[in-house]
Amino acid sequence: MKIVRRIDELQLTGDVGLVPTMGALHDGHRSLFRTARAESDTVVASLFVNPAQFDDLSDLAAYPRDDERDAGIAAAEGVDVLFAPSADEIYPAGFRTWIDVDGTGAEGKARPGHFRGVATVCVKLFNIVRPRRAYFGQKDAQQAAVLRRVVRDLNIDVEIRVLPTVRDHDGLALSSRNVRLSPEERNRALGLPRALHAAIGADDPVAAARASLNGLQPDYVEVVDLGDVKVLAAAVRVGSTRLIDNVILEGALR
Ligand code: PAF
Repeated sequence: MKIVRRIDELQLTGDVGLVPTMGALHDGHRSLFRTARAESDTVVASLFVNPAQFDDLSDLAAYPRDDERDAGIAAAEGVDVLFAPSADEIYPAGFRTWIDVDGTGAEGKARPGHFRGVATVCVKLFNIVRPRRAYFGQKDAQQAAVLRRVVRDLNIDVEIRVLPTVRDHDGLALSSRNVRLSPEERNRALGLPRALHAAIGADDPVAAARASLNGLQPDYVEVVDLGDVKVLAAAVRVGSTRLIDNVILEGALR
């Protein structure tokens, strides 16, 4: 696996699959790498903790980083190129162009500026890497919905693949943020996937999930439309950690 830090050093051939990441890789990322490996000639993973998508600077400062471990995981899963640029490489002095997406739902309202940062960095990555397909996790359903909207609205020729959420043995959706939970918080956090699963098939899934959150205070519970699927999504805060999750209500991922 080649580690590339500069845009002008990227030399890619064939059908390229891109897995954008912010590092702190876990089994959810492994599943994206494996599918990209099976579907592409060349697999590129990007490793860039994108400052532009953090509405909260303490969240950016606390974001887990372990580049060496991440490189080992990417190499073991058959990634060909790990693109790990500096912040200056992506946002050089004088950078002034942003992609603003309307209608980013409750997650967008809860995190002002977040999807502007995500959309901008992803479009930059699509232009830099020119992938045929880009791979994202279902856990970040609103992010996937935003990116599908962006590539459609801006005629960007990349397929946004969304792969199923990978869960821990107890049902908690894998997330780089889970490492911040104490054992007691982790136990409480399980109320989120349980409430979402309990609401599948209910007449009013939003109300059903709210009713079974077991004391967890939701930021929101809402239905997100990904085009091929509708998911029931929610965000809760457990201690100082904000967790999101969703389950499929209708349709199947593609
Ligand atoms: O899902 C993430 O890790 C990030 O939002 C992404 C897509 C890599 C953009 O920075």
